[in-house]
Amino acid sequence: MAAAPLSFALERNAGPVAVADRAKLLADPGFGRVFTDHMAVVRYTEGKGWHDARITARKPLMLDPAAAVLHYAQEIFEGLKAYKLADGSFAMFRPDANARRFNASADRLAMPQIPEETFLESIRQLVRVDRDWFPTVEGGSLYIRPFMFASEVFLGVKPSSEYLYIVILSPVGGYFKSGAPAVSLWISQNYTRAAPGGTGAAKCGGNYASSLVAQAEASKHGCDQVVFLDAAEHKWIEELGGMNVFFVFEDGSIQTPPLSGTILPGITRDSLMTLARAEGLTVREQPYSIDQWRADAKSGKVTEAFACGTAAVVTPIGRVKSPEGEFVMGSGGPGQTTMRIKQKLVDIQRGVAPDTNGWVHKID
Ligand code: PLP
Ligand code: COI
Repeated sequence: MAAAPLSFALERNAGPVAVADRAKLLADPGFGRVFTDHMAVVRYTEGKGWHDARITARKPLMLDPAAAVLHYAQEIFEGLKAYKLADGSFAMFRPDANARRFNASADRLAMPQIPEETFLESIRQLVRVDRDWFPTVEGGSLYIRPFMFASEVFLGVKPSSEYLYIVILSPVGGYFKSGAPAVSLWISQNYTRAAPGGTGAAKCGGNYASSLVAQAEASKHGCDQVVFLDAAEHKWIEELGGMNVFFVFEDGSIQTPPLSGTILPGITRDSLMTLARAEGLTVREQPYSIDQWRADAKSGKVTEAFACGTAAVVTPIGRVKSPEGEFVMGSGGPGQTTMRIKQKLVDIQRGVAPDTNGWVHKID
């Protein structure tokens, strides 16, 4: 396969959103409903490899009804954010880690890897072209969604011989609509997200499709997110529908479930562990059972819990509900350790604090 990074042809959108309409959208974008004028597209064909890289107008795709992705869900995606720094420039947070995870997901879904430099270049070029789409809402960012899907027209079950890689941008505010200081969780007893040997560690659309019924159950019980337990024993906490989870103990230590192959290796999770260790906190990657969590919450041994991910950043967990009843974390609001760790991360992402780990990649 050609090693040189592809260069992206630029075809400007001839009918971009009017400036006044854009300003209205950027003032209150919510999450994932507003999109910019352009997208990045790269094609893959077996034998030819990656080619035809372009930045073009964002528009509906023409897909044959027999395109493989519509039948067998051979699709993967990533999620990362670009932030605006104090000097007005843009920076991505650990995009190289997203590139590596994208290719790990590609391996699991029998898809071709995309060269890391093409992945990074597609994002840089797109953010440059749509730089006027940065949200004006407090705490806003530009959510970057690279994805790849099987586009071969064929109904046989096999890896596709053709793929489309696309990047779209969405100016976003907070992920949770409620805007509440802490979110509530529903413990799913009827559904599991991933089993050993399955696709839990990959970021593929199918994982999210199968989580929706559990998420709907959570909503029915007035909860914001679902907690998934392990498939074998239905006992060990794995992660939430779209976030990893951490627990804070009364001795100041923090704990998160280990990367067992059934949870997504979150980049926020990894970053927070590094930051907490640098602060001198004890960090454990260890299994934690739902019964232990309930008991520790009641005894006061665990004082805080939080969800983390690109979309959610760091979000305190207030209440946890299941058919067996409900328990509350600490006072039910944001905990001190949670908010301190969150601030550390956000300050680095936004260029307010020094980036000693080489995580912040500027877009010139
Ligand atoms: N777990 C799941 C299932 C997710 O969808 C996400 C979000 O991407 C995460 C965890 C957190 O990953 P990251 O911190 O890389 O965004
Ligand atoms: C992300 O945080 O990037 C995700 O993919 C989570 C999704 C639920 C929006």
